[in-house]
Amino acid sequence: MSTQNKIQVLRTPEELRRWHTAQRRADKRIGFVPTMGALHDGHVSLVKEAQKHADSVIASIFVNPTQFAPNEDFDSYPRTLDSDLEKLEAAGCCAAYCPVARDLYPEGDATKVYVEGLSSILEGEHRPHFFGGVTNIVSRLFIHVAPDVAVFGQKDYQQLMIIKRMVKDLGMAVEIIGAPTIREKDGLAMSSRNQYLSADERTKAGNFAGALRKAASSIESGESIKASIDQALKDIATAGLGPINYVAVRNADTLAPLESDTLEKGTNARILTAAWMGKTRLIDNLPLAGKK
Ligand code: PAF
Repeated sequence: MSTQNKIQVLRTPEELRRWHTAQRRADKRIGFVPTMGALHDGHVSLVKEAQKHADSVIASIFVNPTQFAPNEDFDSYPRTLDSDLEKLEAAGCCAAYCPVARDLYPEGDATKVYVEGLSSILEGEHRPHFFGGVTNIVSRLFIHVAPDVAVFGQKDYQQLMIIKRMVKDLGMAVEIIGAPTIREKDGLAMSSRNQYLSADERTKAGNFAGALRKAASSIESGESIKASIDQALKDIATAGLGPINYVAVRNADTLAPLESDTLEKGTNARILTAAWMGKTRLIDNLPLAGKK
């Protein structure tokens, strides 16, 4: 017989408030994993990470309309609530918050949260609507859930940096943790959108991660950053992806370009990329450590 506790599914802000009050009364530290559902092992790893920092972990499942442009995949984004809840329950998640849009965006809503600068570079150049949508929803979810700690994947590295900046600027009392990217056997970073890939595209997508790894190890061994990026652009194109939106090396904390063409000792940097595989846009990034 299973000893697994049943997950509590909270569908309204009122149900969430009652759950929250009970956790506080029991002196529980609350960990939060925001998601858009279509959960995979990457999300499960976020729940596991949250459990290291909290007593009760809650995930949200909400496909946020404001982070999709009109030509993007909001309507076709996979919605798999039943299997999502099973995965969360199996991971030991205590509760799932599954609100409807009206609960988060009330009628006549006129309030926006936007992190200037960071939101308009890299991903923001190609998806100008995206980070405004993310900060709008995550700030609202933080107010609803009032967690002590929240976990985001490093797979969406720029998103993680923007959330950290938002929390700092607004003085929000939530600790933000970045959890490592979970990868398939061939290195492809797990993503809910990978299920859009055909079998042939899926094979080619593994080489996207390989090209990034190769560039990262070349830069870490002291090669020119520009030459390594140029090689990665060629490798990604040879793998059959395109258009390539960017391959960039940035300071890991500020996302500003580096001043030097080689990775200096002790520099904490990140290589980031985005490219199209057929109709699916893939993103990935890796840490770069200047050799001591
Ligand atoms: O990373 C995601 O899945 C989404 O951007 C998030 C943080 C759940 C906001 O909708």
